[in-house]
Order: sequence, then C-alpha cells, then structure tokens
Amino acid sequence: MMDSFRVRSMSSADLPAAAAAFSSIGWIKPVTLFERYLAEQAAGTRSCWVAHLEAVFAGYVTVNWKPTYPFFAEKRIPEIQDLNVLPPFRRKGIGTTLLVQAEAEIVTRSDVAGLGVGLHPGYNNAQRLYVKDGYVPDGQGVTYKDRYVREGELVRLDDDFLLHMLRRIRP
Ligand SMILES: CC(C)(COP(=O)(O)OP(=O)(O)OC[C@H]1O[C@@H](n2cnc3c(N)ncnc32)[C@H](O)[C@@H]1OP(=O)(O)O)[C@@H](O)C(=O)NCCC(=O)NCCS
Repeated sequence: MMDSFRVRSMSSADLPAAAAAFSSIGWIKPVTLFERYLAEQAAGTRSCWVAHLEAVFAGYVTVNWKPTYPFFAEKRIPEIQDLNVLPPFRRKGIGTTLLVQAEAEIVTRSDVAGLGVGLHPGYNNAQRLYVKDGYVPDGQGVTYKDRYVREGELVRLDDDFLLHMLRRIRP
C-alpha cells in the first residue's frame, strides 16, 4: 500500500517540528532559518512547502524567486533551494513530490527551473534524483559562494561548492 504523505505551503505552525526534526539528526537547520524563509515568503521572494507523512514532518523545499547565483539572476531563472527529506522518510517519493510541487509553481512564471547541487557525498542522492528528473548542467561551470571556479583552483568541497542545473519545464 502507498504511504500517504501530503505537501502544502509552509506556515509558522510548522517551524518547531521542522527545527526539532533536523536538530535530532544533528543538522544545523534552526528555527531562525525557517523564520527567514517565511519572512521571504511573506515578501514574495521565496515560496516554501512542507511534506508530512501521517501528520509527521518529513521534509521541505523552497523556491527562491530572486536567486543570487549570477547566471540565474541574469536570466531570471527561479531556483529550487534546500530540498530536504529526513532520512527515515526517504525513497518513498517525497523528494520527487516536493520537486514537482516547486516546478508546478515555477511553470506559472518561467519556462525553465534551476537548482544548484553540491558535489560532496551528502548530495549523492540528490544528484541522481535531479538527473532522473531531467536536469542538465547549465554549462557555466561550478561555483564557490556564487563565484565561478577556474581550472586548477583549490576549493573546499563543502555546501558552498555547487553545480547549477536547469530543466525546461514548459515545452
Ligand atoms: C535528495 C533527497 C531530497 C531525495 O529524497 P527522497 O524522498 O528519498 O526522494 P525520492 O524517494 O523521490 O527518490 C527519487 C529518486 O532519486 C534517486 N535516489 C534517491 N535516493 C537515492 C539513493 N539513496 N540511492 C540511489 N538513488 C537514490 C532514485 O532514482 C529515486 O527513485 P527510486 O526510489 O524510484 O529509485 C534526500 O535524499 C535528501 O534529503 N538528501 C539530503 C539533502 C540533499 O542533498 N538535498 C538536495 C539539496 S540540492
């Protein structure tokens, strides 16, 4: 039988459970991060959704409508950011459903959806998910803190080292 999860817009009532869930697995995603996301959502620069499985917080995703990554900023490409599904809830289709939700909102404003994926092992699953969903590298190289990295340069392989990818979502 299919697990029943649902995705809806993030609200302030979601914040304590979300922060507690990440704290319990040792990830630094404090209430202040989600408060900032909700403030940006209220200002119209970000949209955020949460997924629940049997009423338990399972993950979230956001769309940044004003990304700072230079290529997306220049082309006005909305950026899917911070897709996360808590480990016990993975491989049930929740990540894909959150991605589809973000794309469904983006398609109302843009032909193309963008995202940045990290290159260290914490992103192994995400890399597969995005390629299977049809995302291709944007052809601009990789960035560290939004700055393009040159051939031969030494860069720390952390969350700021990203490959940005695109998917045409409108035929
Ligand atoms: C990436 C992530 C959101 C995927 O969430 P999820 O709910 O497990 O995703 P889905 O169940 O929809 O999986 C979709 C597909 O991705 C691929 N995938 C996901 N996890 C995988 C794994 N452990 N091994 C191989 N492929 C995997 C598979 O193709 C999978 O489809 P399948 O289960 O039918 O084979 C989750 O692993 C996560 O939160 N990772 C850490 C945070 C992260 O990297 N976020 C992305 C930021 S850019």
